Amino acid sequence: MSTFRSAVVRTPNGPDSIEIIDVPEANPGFGQVRVAIAAAAVNPVDLALAAGVFHGLGLVNQPDHTGLGWDFAGTVTATGPEVDIPVGSRVAGLVAGFDRDFGTYAEQLVVSAGDIALVPDGLGMPEAATVPLNGLAATQIVDLLGDGDGRSLLVTGAAGAVGGYVLALARDRGWRVTGLARAADEEFVRGLGAGFVTEPTPGWDAVADGAALQERAVAMVRDGGRFVGVQPGTAPEEERGITVRVVVARPDGARLAPLLAATANGHLPARVHTVVPLERAAEAHRAVAKGGVRGKYVLRP
Ligand SMILES: NC(=O)c1ccc[n+]([C@@H]2O[C@H](COP(=O)([O-])OP(=O)(O)OC[C@H]3O[C@@H](n4cnc5c(N)ncnc54)[C@H](OP(=O)(O)O)[C@@H]3O)[C@@H](O)[C@H]2O)c1
Repeated sequence: MSTFRSAVVRTPNGPDSIEIIDVPEANPGFGQVRVAIAAAAVNPVDLALAAGVFHGLGLVNQPDHTGLGWDFAGTVTATGPEVDIPVGSRVAGLVAGFDRDFGTYAEQLVVSAGDIALVPDGLGMPEAATVPLNGLAATQIVDLLGDGDGRSLLVTGAAGAVGGYVLALARDRGWRVTGLARAADEEFVRGLGAGFVTEPTPGWDAVADGAALQERAVAMVRDGGRFVGVQPGTAPEEERGITVRVVVARPDGARLAPLLAATANGHLPARVHTVVPLERAAEAHRAVAKGGVRGKYVLRP
C-alpha cells in the first residue's frame, strides 16, 4: 500500500502536538482529483486547531487524528471520472471545515475538481498557496458588504491577509476604504489605495473586521451601518441598528480563478513571508503565534 506524509494533531496542545505521520494514499472518485501538494499556507485557523479551540467547541470528532491546513497549491497527479482538468495541471484550492482527518499540510490531497482553479503561468506555488482561504474569505466578506456607492469602509487588521484583500476588493466595489493597522504597516495599506489609521475611531458606514476585534470593531460602525466579522460561531451582538454578519469561507474554484489571476498580474498583493519544509510546521506555528508576521509562512511537503 502506498502512503504519504501528513501533519496531524491527535491530542491538541499547541505546536508541540503537531505530528508528521504516514497515511494511506487515496484514489480520486467521481469529480475528484489527487494533487501532489507543493505548498500549503499556515493560517490562524491552523493554530487554533492545534490549540484545541475547535475540539473544545465540540466541532471535531475524529477518532484518531485531525488534519491540519486549509489552502494549497500543487500538481494534479490523478483524476476521477468526469474531470476535465488534465494530469500535470498546476492548481490551487481550499478544503474547509474543522472535522477532518486530512488537510493540506501533507504530500497529497484528494479534492473535488470544482474546489480548485488553475494557477496562472508566472505565479509561483508558494504565492498561489496563500490565496485560496483568505482571498475567498475576503471575496465573501465583500459580497456581504455589497456595493459601496462611495460609502466609507474601515478594515481592521488591514496589513493581514484577509484585511489586505478586503481593502483591494472592496475598493473595486465602490467603497471608500481605510485600513486600521500598526504604524509600521502604513506603506502597505496606502499602497492599496486606502486611507490609514492606527487607532479605533467611530462613525464608519461599515467595518470589515480582519483583526477579529469583535465588539470593539462593532463600536466603530455608525448607527444603522454594517459589520462583517471573521469568527464563525461568535458573532458580536447587534446594536444601534447595525447589521452584523460573519463570513464562513467556502471552497469555490470559479471565484478562486480570478483571485489567482489578480495575484499573478499584481492587482492583489502576493504575501509569502517564508517557505519552510513540512517538518518545521510546529516552528512556523510558534513564529506566527508571536504576531507581527507579514505575509504567510508556507510549508513545502
Ligand atoms: N471566517 C472565515 O472563514 C475566515 C477565513 C480566513 C480568516 N479568518 C480569520 O480572519 C482573521 C485574520 O486572518 P489573517 O490570515 O488575515 O491573519 P493575519 O495575516 O495574521 O492578519 C491579522 C492582522 O491583524 C492585525 N491586528 C491584530 N490586532 C490588531 C489591532 N488591535 N490593531 C491593528 N492591527 C491588528 C495583526 O497585526 P499583528 O501581527 O501586528 O498583531 C495582523 O496584521 C483570523 O482571525 C482568521 O482566523 C476567518
